Amino acid sequence: MAIALFRIRPFALMSILLVAMYSLSGILLFLIYCYDPMDPNGNITVTFDIVHWTPDGYVARVTIQNYYQYRHVDKPGWKLGWTWAKDEVIWSIGGAFATEGGNCSSFKNEIPHCCKKEPVIVDLTPEASPENKSEDCCRGGILYSSAINPSMSFSSFEMKVGNLEGNTSGNAPKNLTLMTPGPGYTCGPILDAEPTVTLHIGGRRQVQVFRTWKSACTYSSFLANRTPTCCVSLSAFYNPIITFCPLCSCGCREADKQTQTCIRDGYPASSDITQNLDMVKCTGHMCPVRVHWHVKSNYMEHWRIKLTISNYNYRRNYSNWNVLVQHPGFNQDATIYSFNSTLLPTVEFEDEVALFWGIKYYNEELLQAVNNELGSVSTEILLPKNSNTFTFSNGWAFPRRIYFNGENCEMPLPDTFPTLPNDSSKQRPFCCLLFVFITLSFKILFASH
Ligand SMILES: *[C@@H]1O[C@H](CO)[C@@H](O)[C@H](O)[C@H]1NC(C)=O
Ligand SMILES: *[C@@H]1O[C@H](CO)[C@@H](O)[C@H](O)[C@H]1NC(C)=O
Ligand SMILES: *[C@@H]1O[C@H](CO)[C@@H](O)[C@H](O)[C@H]1NC(C)=O
Ligand SMILES: *[C@@H]1O[C@H](CO)[C@@H](O)[C@H](O)[C@H]1NC(C)=O
Ligand SMILES: *[C@@H]1O[C@H](CO)[C@@H](O)[C@H](O)[C@H]1NC(C)=O
Ligand SMILES: *[C@@H]1O[C@H](CO)[C@@H](O)[C@H](O)[C@H]1NC(C)=O
Ligand SMILES: *[C@@H]1O[C@H](CO)[C@@H](O)[C@H](O)[C@H]1NC(C)=O
Ligand SMILES: *[C@@H]1O[C@H](CO)[C@@H](O)[C@H](O)[C@H]1NC(C)=O
Repeated sequence: MAIALFRIRPFALMSILLVAMYSLSGILLFLIYCYDPMDPNGNITVTFDIVHWTPDGYVARVTIQNYYQYRHVDKPGWKLGWTWAKDEVIWSIGGAFATEGGNCSSFKNEIPHCCKKEPVIVDLTPEASPENKSEDCCRGGILYSSAINPSMSFSSFEMKVGNLEGNTSGNAPKNLTLMTPGPGYTCGPILDAEPTVTLHIGGRRQVQVFRTWKSACTYSSFLANRTPTCCVSLSAFYNPIITFCPLCSCGCREADKQTQTCIRDGYPASSDITQNLDMVKCTGHMCPVRVHWHVKSNYMEHWRIKLTISNYNYRRNYSNWNVLVQHPGFNQDATIYSFNSTLLPTVEFEDEVALFWGIKYYNEELLQAVNNELGSVSTEILLPKNSNTFTFSNGWAFPRRIYFNGENCEMPLPDTFPTLPNDSSKQRPFCCLLFVFITLSFKILFASH
């Protein structure tokens, strides 16, 4: 018994240490630099293109482009704000509107659309009347992520800016803010950029705008002050024990039963629940979303996964959800049955990174929980085996990292992963040699102290 423990412990300890160091460094990078190693160039770029001059100002086309590969802006959509450098007003807007008109009392004849020093602009819905629309507008503030739907990853509006007193070269607005609608994005200064060029006459003529200003906004979940929203649970056909989400992944249940932070089993989804509160089913992990990875079967040439995403929230549907999985076993020849998917280009990782999202009119929406039923979407994935790397041992078959809607999901620790039955693990001389080596090094380490 003592020998068995000694054999297991150093290895488990080493793997915990390694994984802890690995994830800690990732989290630190993420927090300090707002840097996501799997989407290093991600940002939302806001471009102001001056397309005409007017007697007292200009007409600008503003484009919000989401360059994040798997982070989208969901309902109720974006809110864009800035501070005018001078006394500019917005005479009119197409394709969006300012939330407040402001104090326009000094304008006697024509009343501007917005006189605020710090206007806030929001998108129109697709149902807006045609005379208020402009090109590529009116998407209800929703920006798809660029790897999933590039043609819907941007939105534009046009505004006529005036009251510029004789100097018509314009002044870049200052202090751009992007709310979605909560915080999370930080925008850089609005700077002069190369004028935007558009193609005409079948691409044979290039036309450039008069002037272009740009700012890039980057996301940080630290700024958004988000508690984790998602956790991962695991299981495998070769072990009956399920590895649940880590306890308190997204918060702990309040000990005080008076404060209702989650909904107990069998609780009727009735009207006495506060309308505007996210209401999550009571669980050990307390996450609104759980991703379950089940290693389902093993064939000669393939292995099969079942991936299930469950919604524990009673008040929230996740439309256009996406899930990102980092695992070395993915490749172009994988068969994904019920989700749409793509492999992302990876710069720093040898592992493959696969992105999954719902199929239109089928499972694009991850529905809210109702009574005791969780909302869920799932797929089976058939992966070809690469004989050089494939193994079921040491938790290889489980994902390295999972994101839901761009947010990192809490993973169980590797020493809790479902393990292979004992007899099969005995037949691996390399592994036992490794144990001996580690055991020896630990002995030397401890002896020297
Ligand atoms: C924003 O993203 C685009 C596309 O990935 C990239 O070309 C650009 O350099 C990024 N801008 C900043 C400031 O990171
Ligand atoms: C509105 O603006 C005018 C002139 O710009 C100013 O005199 C007036 O006090 C302002 N009204 C309010 C309510 O701020
Ligand atoms: C839409 O246009 C009409 C007239 O063109 C205008 O009265 C109305 O305020 C506009 N609505 C919005 C939301 O801009
Ligand atoms: C006019 O605008 C240009 C560029 O924005 C600036 O350099 C210049 O000082 C302005 N002139 C006046 C009179 O404001
Ligand atoms: C922009 O924001 C900075 C910091 O919040 C502030 O110091 C500055 O005065 C603001 N500029 C304008 C024009 O509001
Ligand atoms: C979620 O979707 C279902 C079905 O479409 C709908 O009945 C429900 O009201 C939606 N919930 C929210 C919070 O929008
Ligand atoms: C999968 O996603 C792509 C890109 O968004 C889309 O063009 C295609 O129609 C989707 N396929 C299905 C079956 O939804
Ligand atoms: C594997 O062996 C250990 C001790 O040798 C034992 O405690 C454990 O229950 C065994 N596991 C299985 C799945 O047989």
